Amino acid sequence: MDSLLSRVLVTGGAGFIGSNFVHFTVRQKPGVKCIVLDKLTYAGNPDNLAGLTDDQCQLVVGDICDARLVDDLVADVDAVVHFAAESHNDNSIADPAPFVRTNVEGTFTLLEACRRHGVRFHHISTDEVYGDLALDDPTRFTEETPYKPSSPYSSTKASSDMLVRAWHRTYGVQATISNCSNNYGPRQHIEKFIPRQITNILCGIRPKLYGDGRNVRDWIHVDDHNAAVWTILEHGRIGETYLIGADGEQGNIDVLRAILQCMGKEADDFDWVRDRPGHDRRYAIDSTKLRTELAWHPEHTDFARGLRQTIDWYRQNEAWWRPLKEAVEAKYAKAGQ
Ligand code: NAD
Ligand code: DAU
Repeated sequence: MDSLLSRVLVTGGAGFIGSNFVHFTVRQKPGVKCIVLDKLTYAGNPDNLAGLTDDQCQLVVGDICDARLVDDLVADVDAVVHFAAESHNDNSIADPAPFVRTNVEGTFTLLEACRRHGVRFHHISTDEVYGDLALDDPTRFTEETPYKPSSPYSSTKASSDMLVRAWHRTYGVQATISNCSNNYGPRQHIEKFIPRQITNILCGIRPKLYGDGRNVRDWIHVDDHNAAVWTILEHGRIGETYLIGADGEQGNIDVLRAILQCMGKEADDFDWVRDRPGHDRRYAIDSTKLRTELAWHPEHTDFARGLRQTIDWYRQNEAWWRPLKEAVEAKYAKAGQ
């Protein structure tokens, strides 16, 4: 369907979800050009945008904390979709400083530019701002759940959400926020749980499971997340928050056993490793508001199928992840994980 938006600034568009957003936009929103602003940290890869034409996507390498650059870019677009962040909990525990800078100061810099130029802003956030739930808690997170972040990562994301709310209320910035659960799919950095285990097996390394392995995450395919983002961008009510989730709760040990089975390994062919400090027990999203108000529904609800496709992607794209593997595993080994 044609969009009323023709130029969208996608921050973090060379990372996992942002690059999938750009590809989704090219497939589903003809006529929309994505201007990607990405610093190309360890998590950003220009190859994630390979094959796109200049009419579909332009990559600007730069920092969202660079106020002058951000101002120039925001002045020339219809909307900003803000994915850029330091995104990995384990890294935030080892060194929180870049998380505060990028996630808080970077969001502030973008909001100020949107305020000056009257540009629509959509903020990509996480369910982790709500803290965690007990395994036997019958409730799930809703838009009304109080904020209670646990990690340096989630506390900086919570801070950025608060800035967006304040900039909307005080200055009238045309903003929306979405808080999504754990994404999986192609091009996810191999520091994250699912791609780490897949690439471990491909390299002959035993997968690593934290703690007792009973922590629960609520998995959603990255394309379902991005479809929801477009729905909110085009039809969401300004000033509102929407939770995005696909009823995909799974224990970590069950996800790992599914990967092992799919890749022809025994169910106990993995190592138990040191738990993450402050490890959130369970996340679970109630996405009723998004489904009833904006008629969004997830399409990729067969997790086993999505996992098989993701495994195939890592099998077929070894050149993409192989150069990163040694350093990622050396860092984990140092932390006892
Ligand atoms: P990612 O780490 O794969 O990608 C982040 C991208 O941001 C990279 O391309 C990186 O180079 C870029 N970046 C980092 N700092 C920057 C800076 N200062 N200036 C410009 N670019 C910078 O992350 P992801 O998993 O794709 O997550 C994207 C967003 O979605 C984040 O805001 C994250 O909090 C949120 N989110 C992620 C998940 C998930 O499961 N991965 C779930 C919910 C929300
Ligand atoms: O809930 C949304 C969040 O999901 C996003 O905001 C974050 O950006 C994203 O990284 C993700 O956070 P998690 O901490 O849940 O994801 P991660 O892939 O790091 O870990 C998923 C679970 O697997 C978690 O319980 C820790 C566990 N784990 C992780 C790794 C890397 C392991 O057991 N072994 C591992 O090797």
